Amino acid sequence: MQLTWNDIEQHVATCTRCPLSQTRNLPVMGRGNHQADLMLIAEAPGGQEDQQGLPFVGRSGEILDRLLQEFGLARNEIYITNILKCHPPGNRDPKGEEKEACFPYLKYETYLLKPKIIVCLGRVAAQRIISPDFKITRQHGTWIDRKDCALTATYHPSAILRDPSKYEIVKSDFVEIVKKRNNLRNH
Ligand code: URA
Repeated sequence: MQLTWNDIEQHVATCTRCPLSQTRNLPVMGRGNHQADLMLIAEAPGGQEDQQGLPFVGRSGEILDRLLQEFGLARNEIYITNILKCHPPGNRDPKGEEKEACFPYLKYETYLLKPKIIVCLGRVAAQRIISPDFKITRQHGTWIDRKDCALTATYHPSAILRDPSKYEIVKSDFVEIVKKRNNLRNH
């Protein structure tokens, strides 16, 4: 039986597949356009996201919105999600078993969306989606072609909060992402 977006949202809303279900306030399902060709995948909801049940509504979200705006990308034309749907206490890195427990949701999101481009935001997403030994410092902005989808990674917006000079690096990665998107659209 084919699951729908609604089914996945219901599963996520009531998920108890890992212990984060006991500490979360609200799970955070991906949000955006279900016909989007561009999917952004980050790490896990932060504290603000946990309060509101929405991705990227805190300080990282402000940076992300500024970036998207510079490229004329609206949140409602792309799709944004996380590897984990629940907030890890203290914003610690997701544990292996949490990532594995949550992965079926991301798989369904990707299967239903069928994006042409996936952008991993940060090391944790890049290592889960692209390659376990992915080095964000050396390999951000590089492309991997997988089936019908091009994959790339750039720094997480929180890395920009810690080191504002990374904004320009992320911007140059997004120049290429937008170019790739335009090329794919014209073919
Ligand atoms: N950081 C993430 O990785 N995801 C969010 O949704 C918010 C902050």
